[in-house]
Amino acid sequence: MMAARQLPEVLDVQDDLFHVGQYETYRHLLRERPLAKVRFYDGRELWMVNRYEDVQFVLRDGRFSNDPTKFADLSFAVTAGVPDGMEDYFYRNMLRLDPPDHTRLRKLVSRGFTPRRIAELRPRIKEIVDDLLCGLEEKGSSQPVDLMAEFAYRLPVAVICELLGIPKEDHDRFRDWTAIVVSNDPEVQELKPDSYRGLMNFVLELIHERFHHPGNDLLSALVQMRDNEDRLDDAELVSMVFLLLVAGVETTVNLIGTGAYLMLTHPEQADFLRGKPDYMAGAVDEMLRYFAPVEITTRYVAEEVSFGGTVVPAGSLILINLSAANRDPERFPQADTFDVARGDSGHLTFGSGVHFCLGAALARLEGEIALDGLLRRFPELSMAVPESELRWRRAFLRGLDELPVRTHGPACTTDTPTGSHAQ
Ligand code: HEM
Repeated sequence: MMAARQLPEVLDVQDDLFHVGQYETYRHLLRERPLAKVRFYDGRELWMVNRYEDVQFVLRDGRFSNDPTKFADLSFAVTAGVPDGMEDYFYRNMLRLDPPDHTRLRKLVSRGFTPRRIAELRPRIKEIVDDLLCGLEEKGSSQPVDLMAEFAYRLPVAVICELLGIPKEDHDRFRDWTAIVVSNDPEVQELKPDSYRGLMNFVLELIHERFHHPGNDLLSALVQMRDNEDRLDDAELVSMVFLLLVAGVETTVNLIGTGAYLMLTHPEQADFLRGKPDYMAGAVDEMLRYFAPVEITTRYVAEEVSFGGTVVPAGSLILINLSAANRDPERFPQADTFDVARGDSGHLTFGSGVHFCLGAALARLEGEIALDGLLRRFPELSMAVPESELRWRRAFLRGLDELPVRTHGPACTTDTPTGSHAQ
């Protein structure tokens, strides 16, 4: 039983406790250890913050930093498998900088992500989704089809590549590179340096091409942009594109994949949504709360801080458990119940404070259109393997490796024009 579960004094992030039934672990931590000692990938012992109030405090307070270089800590790049000499491309983006550098970079790109710009994307996203559902139907009516590879991956890749103006023939390469660079699977670690090289060099070439031949896309706009006459340099541009690709793809893939899984495992709620499509946007927020695609993020403690009597010294790296915070019963009644009609979007899945996810509106929109389309097009959608055979990634970017389904769909009768980017 949950209450009787014994947790080691120091929890290893690679242990099953974090990857199989982790919510049971988090329940225990929320009750017993708001600040928990954890062994990180590189062997360091770090503190991990779990409760909603503490997580929100850390994310919003300027005394916590995101900039590893201020703390002479380049271990992230090493652990991540970034090749020597490419660290700048990994670090010099807004997520790894504090204000005022953060403010400058965020301001430049945020013009491309205003609520109006995102809302304007709705028809095009709907078109891509309709095309993908058609493809899924063709493959999945007679045999199982992998919803992750054929749907959940393809939509965010198509959307971000279109936004950035990346040619369609490169979408699959992009998807493969990003999947490898964010993976914690020991089997793919040795592929990482080559994937980073492939991705970063490709982006560099694209930047040079757009400099000379600008198009009507976000990358061209970024290349041309000036901020107080201070053009973004190559490293800043590569790093920004890299961040948008990684932050915008792997996360949204998992929102769509996990959202579909939740619909398959909660058929009564799926039926409710088919009858009440107005609830879909709220349902996506509940999916994000219930299974956060980014489970854990980090900060450096710039000034000594105390949590309930435990002093964390300046210079420490701490882990911030967004998933646990989203299940904190002090904040969410019946926190472990999935309820598409909950009507509470106060989860911390997109972070909080100055680094609040730039792509939150886009991710929500993609999730809403994708899952609504899936429910409507395939009322008989079913899992093609027993639930116990599904494999969840052992990484803090959480999601399913594969989700084999049968669509049992009607013949594809989309009347929307066939888009050219969604194959
Ligand atoms: C379900 C999908 C997504 C989730 C769960 C998610 C989650 C997050 C989280 C937790 C952060 C803050 C990290 C921190 O403070 O340490 C963040 C930041 C960020 N996200 Fe997302 N994200 C998603 C989709 C996207 C998309 C679609 C884009 C862009 C196309 C995007 C771009 C960014 C950027 C640029 C930042 C850095 C913002 C800053 O540092 O000011 N994200 N995201």
